[in-house]
Amino acid sequence: MQMEALLKKLDERHSLTLDEYEYLIENRTDEIAREAAERAVRTRKEIYGSSIFTRGLIEISNYCKNDCLYCGIRRSNKSCSRYRLPPEEILASAENGYGLGFRTFVLQGGEDAYYTDDRLVPLLKEIKARHPDCAVTLSLGERERESYQRLFDAGADRYLLRHETASPGHYRMLHPPEMSFEHRMKCLRDLRDIGYAVGAGFMVGSPGQTNRNLAMDLKFIEEFRPDMCGIGPFVPHHETPFADKPQGTVGLTCFLLSLIRLIYPPVLLPSTTALGTIDPLGREKGILAGANVVMPNLSPVGVRKQYELYDGKICTGEEAAECRGCLEKRMEKIGYKIVSERGDRKSWQSTTQNH
Ligand code: SAM
Ligand code: FES
Repeated sequence: MQMEALLKKLDERHSLTLDEYEYLIENRTDEIAREAAERAVRTRKEIYGSSIFTRGLIEISNYCKNDCLYCGIRRSNKSCSRYRLPPEEILASAENGYGLGFRTFVLQGGEDAYYTDDRLVPLLKEIKARHPDCAVTLSLGERERESYQRLFDAGADRYLLRHETASPGHYRMLHPPEMSFEHRMKCLRDLRDIGYAVGAGFMVGSPGQTNRNLAMDLKFIEEFRPDMCGIGPFVPHHETPFADKPQGTVGLTCFLLSLIRLIYPPVLLPSTTALGTIDPLGREKGILAGANVVMPNLSPVGVRKQYELYDGKICTGEEAAECRGCLEKRMEKIGYKIVSERGDRKSWQSTTQNH
């Protein structure tokens, strides 16, 4: 089938076969990418208009017990200087963010044993008590189902846990043997069962990734239908085993953003910091490819450089207000508007027979 016909089919049915996804990725041209972006933008505008949602990202700890081969805060990186924000500082960051117009806070961190449920539960309750009109998103990695349940009961609304890759073989290339693909997938299913709005996602151009792997990622998104999907280019970090591996590209990341928008039209799709890191206009390009979320940094400036997942990460020197102001201007320039709302996923009725 022709590339245009495949795009049209995806736009109408929100589903392709694994081979068809692979074929689209394999044969991408600038023209096809433009057409995919046009269709994605049209689809997003029907659901979200030209509103862009923001999430205030608070990086609560860079201690991590895991050793993912790609990640700058992996436990084997002995030159990483570790920090942990105490609950008062997290609350202060949220307070600051609220004043700036944020209505979603994302608490993200490495898998830090300090942040037990007993420490997180009162913190979540306090954030929700002070800001009842806000959503709280957690991104703290893999935990037991009981823990996810306790955090949900304490007020957490959403959970981001990128699946990283939908191929078990590729997963093993990116992670140490003690980490398992099956457990990550189980976590995503548990989170959904409990009632969280769930975010999955993956890196584009991670070492060993094939077009077949990416097609599997798209099929996974089609079947799992995550409420959010975080995708960004892999960017090497000099203190990891992948220090010399090439980074992902803007072109392929944006093309995949467009395809994901067509696969699941109401998905909340961030234009990521990693995309802004490899291209000064990366986040604008992500929005113009179909994304509808940006995540300015709300962490205290003093610790930002330490949350170094990859080399060259942007926004490590700016105050939260500067970051927000900067993104507001950037979005306005391309005809979009940052709005102060929680920004939940809108409901959507598929008009096709597939689902
Ligand atoms: N520990 C939690 C987890 O594993 O889900 C949240 C923090 S983790 C650092 C957040 C995300 O950063 C990961 O899901 C991964 O996709 C991304 N990341 C890590 N290293 C990266 C790199 N070198 N380039 C691009 N993204 C990276
Ligand atoms: Fe952080 Fe531009 S978004 S400085």
